[in-house]
Amino acid sequence: MARPVPLIAGNWKMNGLTASTRSLASELATRVRSDRDLGFEMLICPPFTMLSTAAELVRDCALKLGAQDCHTASSGAHTGDISPAMLRDVGCEYVILGHSERRTDHGETCALVRAKTRAALDAGLKVIVCVGETEAQRDAGETLRVVADQVTGSLPEGVTAETLVVAYEPVWAIGTGRTPTTAEVAEVHAALRQTLGTILGTGAAEGVRLLYGGSVKPDNARELLALDNVNGALVGGASLKVDDFWAIASAV
Ligand code: PGA
Repeated sequence: MARPVPLIAGNWKMNGLTASTRSLASELATRVRSDRDLGFEMLICPPFTMLSTAAELVRDCALKLGAQDCHTASSGAHTGDISPAMLRDVGCEYVILGHSERRTDHGETCALVRAKTRAALDAGLKVIVCVGETEAQRDAGETLRVVADQVTGSLPEGVTAETLVVAYEPVWAIGTGRTPTTAEVAEVHAALRQTLGTILGTGAAEGVRLLYGGSVKPDNARELLALDNVNGALVGGASLKVDDFWAIASAV
C-alpha cells in the first residue's frame, strides 16, 4: 500500500480567544490555499468555543478542522458536554480522543475512549486516538506493553484505516521540550503498526497514519517525520505560532 499522506495536526488545547483564533486560522488558510503542491494534510483543533469561528475561516480550503474531545451520546442530558453530531454540524472532520491530559485530568479510561471512538466514527468523524507511556513506565521498560494495551483497549470493533489515526505521545515529552530518541520513536511506531496489524489486518494497518506528538518543534520535526512509520505529527505548543507550525509541516 502507498505511504499515506502525512497529517500535521495542531492541538490548541485550552488556548484561543476570538482575535488569536482569527489571525492564526486565517493565516494558515491563506498559506494552504496558496500552496499548490501541499505534500501533507493540515488540521487545526481549536477549543470548542472557537470551532465556529475557525470553521468560517477554513471554509472552501484544504485546511481541516477538528475538536479535542467529544461525548459518547449524540444528544441528551449531559450538561457541559459536546456530542460528535455537534462537531460534525459545526464543520469538524476530526476529533482527538484519549489525549493523556484527558486521561489524567478527567480519569478517561481506555473503555471510555473506545466508546467515544465508536460514537465519533458513527457520526462520520475521523478519530485521532492518543496513546503514550509515563516516564515511570518507560524507566520500568514497559513502554511497548503500555502502548499496545492502550491501542487494543481504545479501539472499537470495525475501525478502518481511512478514518483512524493513532498518535503516539509519551506523557513525559508533552510540553516539556524533551523527546525520545529517534530510535525510541521508531521502535514504538513499528510496534504500533504491528499491533494495528493484529486488529485490522496487516494490509489495512499500513494505511493508518501514525503521528508522533510531544515537543515537536521546527528544529526536530525533520528527523522525526523522516522515520519509517511516522506519518505526521500532533503538535501542541508550536501549533499556536503560525511560522513554527508551518515550518513543522514543511519538514514533511
Ligand atoms: P506539545 O503537546 O507539542 O506542546 O508537547 C503535544 C500534545 O499534547 O498534543
